[in-house]
Amino acid sequence: MSQPKDPGARAAELRAAIRRHEHLYYVLSKPEISDREFDALDRELRDIEAAHPELITPDSPTQRVGEVPLSEFPSVNHKEPMLSLENTYSEDEVREFEERIRRQLGNTSLSYVAEPKIDGLSLSVTYEKGRLVRAVTRGDGKIGDDVTANARTIRSLPLSLTPPHDGRGIPESIEVRGEVYLPRSVFTRLNEERVRNDEEPFVNPRNAASGAMKQLDPRQVAERGLELFLYSLAQVSGPEPKSHSEALVLLRSLGLRTNPEIRLCASIEDALTECAALREKRHNLDYDIDGVVIKVDSLSLQRELGATSKFPRWAIAYKFPAERATTRLVNIDVQVGRTGKLTPVAHLEPVFVGGTTVSRATLHNAEEIARKDIRVGDLVVVERGGEVIPKIVEVVADKRPPSAAPFAMPTACPVCGAHVAAIAGEVDLRCPNTSCKAQIEERIKHYARRQAMDIEGLGDKLVGVLVEMGAVKDIADLYTLEPSALAQLERMGEKSATNLVASIDKSREAGLQRLLFGLGIRFVGERAAELLSRRFGSMEALSRATAEEIDAVPEIGEAVVASLREWFEAPQNRHLLDRLHKAGVRLNAISGGREEARTLEGLQFVLTGVLDSMDRNEAKRRIESRGGRVTSAVSSKTDFIVAGGDAGSKLEKGRALGIKILDEAGLLGLLSENSRPAPTPSS
Ligand code: IVH
Repeated sequence: MSQPKDPGARAAELRAAIRRHEHLYYVLSKPEISDREFDALDRELRDIEAAHPELITPDSPTQRVGEVPLSEFPSVNHKEPMLSLENTYSEDEVREFEERIRRQLGNTSLSYVAEPKIDGLSLSVTYEKGRLVRAVTRGDGKIGDDVTANARTIRSLPLSLTPPHDGRGIPESIEVRGEVYLPRSVFTRLNEERVRNDEEPFVNPRNAASGAMKQLDPRQVAERGLELFLYSLAQVSGPEPKSHSEALVLLRSLGLRTNPEIRLCASIEDALTECAALREKRHNLDYDIDGVVIKVDSLSLQRELGATSKFPRWAIAYKFPAERATTRLVNIDVQVGRTGKLTPVAHLEPVFVGGTTVSRATLHNAEEIARKDIRVGDLVVVERGGEVIPKIVEVVADKRPPSAAPFAMPTACPVCGAHVAAIAGEVDLRCPNTSCKAQIEERIKHYARRQAMDIEGLGDKLVGVLVEMGAVKDIADLYTLEPSALAQLERMGEKSATNLVASIDKSREAGLQRLLFGLGIRFVGERAAELLSRRFGSMEALSRATAEEIDAVPEIGEAVVASLREWFEAPQNRHLLDRLHKAGVRLNAISGGREEARTLEGLQFVLTGVLDSMDRNEAKRRIESRGGRVTSAVSSKTDFIVAGGDAGSKLEKGRALGIKILDEAGLLGLLSENSRPAPTPSS
């Protein structure tokens, strides 16, 4: 048998491998191994570090996300101010920009770099001795916020630099600048989620990114999935590059991520051609760009040109105009959300704008429709700027059909016919009928979501069918569904019916945090659910808590307090909780956080194979919260082996050593028991 490696050496080896694969994946977008293989390396390193905390280094890839929220961001002076850019929308003004440069510098040869102007927020990042030591926002250009803990969570930003291949070595100190952004794909997912949670969606990825960077809790920033491109070298110790393009090569050689669309241009006309090319391409990129930055390439010429108090004289931003198109407003549809809120949505004759064909636009509420006097049948101008969903900017008044009448919100719910009511102090109208099919459907969809009760197989379409046929009138009805009845539904075989009932069954154990979120109480998002579950531990305790007690929970505001009160006071909700309780749905927290009984103190666990109800991180966290330890290797010290599906050699080794084997149910049992289990007797 091969000798197990010294943990320190193995940890160093794993760190190097993980850094290399992170670079390949996040910086170069050229992964060489699967996510699974990557996770295995990460897991092994985490296991070693858990068993030998003294081996943890600050730049270990496991140390991206700090556990402790900050109370504020310290202010930092920028060594060199972070300037803004002069903007223009016209090609001629770009040519004038060059003429101005020529007047100042005389007739010299000029080349430019054209780069996408990423629509995000700028960040200055300093590495000392190759380690990331500081990340600062632009702020007012002179003083910014130290957001290092947040920046560390950005996977495309390395925590340590890689030595360049040409043997130059890593500079003692280097400050680079770039743009943090939220990929469009991530933004779309995030907003879908927010809408489902009855939270206001972000208008564009930039707002979502800047909101994230302002969070004081790095764990939340990590969840947001920010990325970054570096676009300039602010300062470097040792030899300096001669041009901006050379500086970008240096950044790349240190493992930093630069934008692949950056081009060196031999003349200003070439740079303008590049602007046109990027404008064509912009909609195929996974990030928003609002223009092109044209920079003089030579760094000595940049210095000679200098800057005004606001802008450098060696760069200009050529901005793309917001894209607009004219189309017909076919109808205004009124949708009913989970909490009964009525939202008007414009249905348009499909039109190509901002890179996609759109057939819907937001109208927000009746007030906005009245202000712009938008009527069904109108020819309207739609605009897609930085926002994802286009808006109607104006009506082409002289093209209005004579029959077009002003729009009025319905007085009855378009789905159930109940009389709609304006809620005091709000512009929105609501359907007050909590048995409205639209509301039931949205509530159940929400309840089944991954972040809520995670009921696999209960998709939106199926929920629609179940509600429509009256099989499910509220979430408690889910627990009465029979496989035989489900199997009768169109496109639902016996096997998927059985699986669905099994996953509904499993959701009984989801615990208070998921349940609270899943109930869809207004303003109770994932974070509030987590905090409330941790503080009160059971539905019973929460329902009895006074407004003051709830309000005293940090981060929980008045809106949540009022909404919870209203929810618990409604008799139908009390009845619902009663039925959920009778259906065996767990109404208390799975892990009471700090109050967790340490029933596994001193016991060692090894996890192998795949668990259904949680991933390894979660299993590890839950074992540790009860005082247990999770290690990667099976030894005579191991007390339990938790074997999920596809368990491998560790299980065999455990059997050979006579170690107690737990299946998933066994583990869940241990995690909910209040007494200490009997481990493997030591030999
Ligand atoms: S150069 C002094 N390059 O645009 C030169 N800026 O309007 C400053 N931006 O604050 C920056 N992409 O946040 C530069 N490729 C790029 C950029 C870029 C986006 C942002 C940056 C800056 C703002 C100026």
